[in-house]
Amino acid sequence: MVDRNGWDADASVPAGPSHDPPASFVEQANVTEEAVYEAFETEWPDCWERAADLLSWEREYDTVLEADDAPFYEWFSGGKLNASYNCLDRHLEAGRKTHAAIRWEGKRGERETYTYQDLATAVNEFAAALLDLGVEEDDIVTLYLPMIPELPIAMLACARIGAPHSVVFAGLSADALATRMDAADSEFLVTCDGYYRRGDAFNQKSKADNALITLEQDVETVVVDRLGDDLPHVLSEREYDYEALVTDNRGETVEPVRRDAEDMLFLMYTSGTTGEPKGVVHTTGGYLAHVAWTSRAVLDVKPEDTYWCAADIGWITGHSYIVYGPLALGTTTIMYEGTPDYPDRDRLWEIVDRNAVDIFYTAPTAIRAFMKWGEEYPAKHDLSSLRLLGTVGEAISARPWNWYRDHIGGGETPIVDTWWQTETGAITVSTLPGVDEMKPGSAGPSLPGIDARVVDAEGDRVDPGETGYLIIARPWPGMARTLYDGDERYRSEYWSQFAEPENDRWWYFSGDAATVDEDGYITVMGRVDDVINVAGRRLSTMEIEGAITGVDGVVEAAVVGRSSEADGTAVCAYVSTEADCDPDGDLRGRIVESIESSIGPIAKPESVVFTPELPKTRSGKIMRRLLEDVANGNQLGDTSALRNPEIVGEIQTEVQTE
Ligand code: PRX
Repeated sequence: MVDRNGWDADASVPAGPSHDPPASFVEQANVTEEAVYEAFETEWPDCWERAADLLSWEREYDTVLEADDAPFYEWFSGGKLNASYNCLDRHLEAGRKTHAAIRWEGKRGERETYTYQDLATAVNEFAAALLDLGVEEDDIVTLYLPMIPELPIAMLACARIGAPHSVVFAGLSADALATRMDAADSEFLVTCDGYYRRGDAFNQKSKADNALITLEQDVETVVVDRLGDDLPHVLSEREYDYEALVTDNRGETVEPVRRDAEDMLFLMYTSGTTGEPKGVVHTTGGYLAHVAWTSRAVLDVKPEDTYWCAADIGWITGHSYIVYGPLALGTTTIMYEGTPDYPDRDRLWEIVDRNAVDIFYTAPTAIRAFMKWGEEYPAKHDLSSLRLLGTVGEAISARPWNWYRDHIGGGETPIVDTWWQTETGAITVSTLPGVDEMKPGSAGPSLPGIDARVVDAEGDRVDPGETGYLIIARPWPGMARTLYDGDERYRSEYWSQFAEPENDRWWYFSGDAATVDEDGYITVMGRVDDVINVAGRRLSTMEIEGAITGVDGVVEAAVVGRSSEADGTAVCAYVSTEADCDPDGDLRGRIVESIESSIGPIAKPESVVFTPELPKTRSGKIMRRLLEDVANGNQLGDTSALRNPEIVGEIQTEVQTE
């Protein structure tokens, strides 16, 4: 039995019938041959040349896979390429200058279209500006921007000059930004004055300022003026106005730097099992090949499509499937700054309708919200342009899956449920929409060339329907190569649980529990480690606990995930306080404030339960699993190992009255 977080409340609902992809979809799909699975198997690892062939290489690679120093694999070694060249220049050379690259939809209804030529110009000018500021190859540039065009422009400008970017989600707090800049030793920051939140101006620069105060290194900061007169700001020393820098470099071009396939393209911090975020390192060749291949084979992207991944570029989904994948393939990618319900709950469908979007990719948490709001909102619009729908970030159970297909997909449109992670870089488990049948509630089989398995603690495959650990038994091109804070942490976080180095067995452990059926379809159940997945975003329970125990009056805290209809999983915090501390006072408010300031509003707890003590084993370990059961109203397991079993009843009563 695998202990897991974030049970899907609907998981027990029967999955219902499976569906074949409609013939009209198969006829036009990029990948339609079932033989692709077999071909990848027999040709592995050379099969991945098909992915590399989607890119333009300045120098051909020597080997597809170097596995001598496992788990530190190398993909396409010896190859040279530039990601910005692949996303821009080669499309210009192919005569597609006037083709739309990015269609941006702003929060206030603003619309901007960047053709491939416009985007290339903007990227070149900003790349020149970065060079002026002294950015050198391999310097890490932190980008702390909301969903405005300057974000992908800055990413591609960094890629052009070989400076890895580290994008920090704009909603994260000053502390979170500082931790990430400090860990990466980043001396360059691109941010903005602020952004609109439900129509109000929200100050982003003050968060950036607060972060920089705590850093030891000097930082050059570029500030995008997003709000104009709505939020005047002054620039001080080491601060530069984005527009002024670009104006100074009007018409400049910058030669794309030849990067090694294995050179870092970007760093992406994500939550791990400790309080310290992990700096996941992605490379130029393998990553780009894998995102391009999956954009083509799974998301069925074609150059003439209008494609929309409604994620935030601040997370991996946006990196891979708003920016690098679609632009590498030369398609039109929509970038939406706002929320799905502002100014009204049909906002997304209005955008799909107006832009005749072909492919739409979102998270189950959003689909559950659409369901709750009601079918009348999508019904107001013509969604018949949609050819394929996708989901990512958490499990989608059968009910929202069917609702998505019926009300957004007109009862016909195929859906891909894509399982992957910040560390996998690109999609690893999913159906191929032109080949496989879809089973609502199950992500699907391993993609061709990927060997994802569900195993027990010994590494043996579990029987169909049994829960086990989701591992990947072979390397893949988009895989993270290491953690920025060190190879050792990388090895121990992902390769220590199931790898058997003495037998040269290297298995990657995902941290997820899953089941598998007779056809090899994988259903992901949730995390088994101290990570919870709230509304498709990864949070570390230890990081949240750290923020709570920093509050005066708090003795201990335990954070668990609780099933929530809206968010899949919600944060539930159990807090024990000092004897003379009155939890009825403002303590709850101070706890929430501390979490928001050390992580950000996304980690805000749905409930804070005060208890005189936390339940502990005789050896003093907090019984988190028990607390999770209490939070979810589950039958409690064995409590005999507890030192203080009497506390459990008290906590249950407290939870019920919360
Ligand atoms: O638990 C899995 C869940 O999201 C985790 C990865 O989170 P992150 O690195 O933030 O990347 C999210 C977007 C790629 C996984 O360990 N997850 C992701 N996709 C699915 C999923 N769970 C179930 N089904 C999915 N399709």
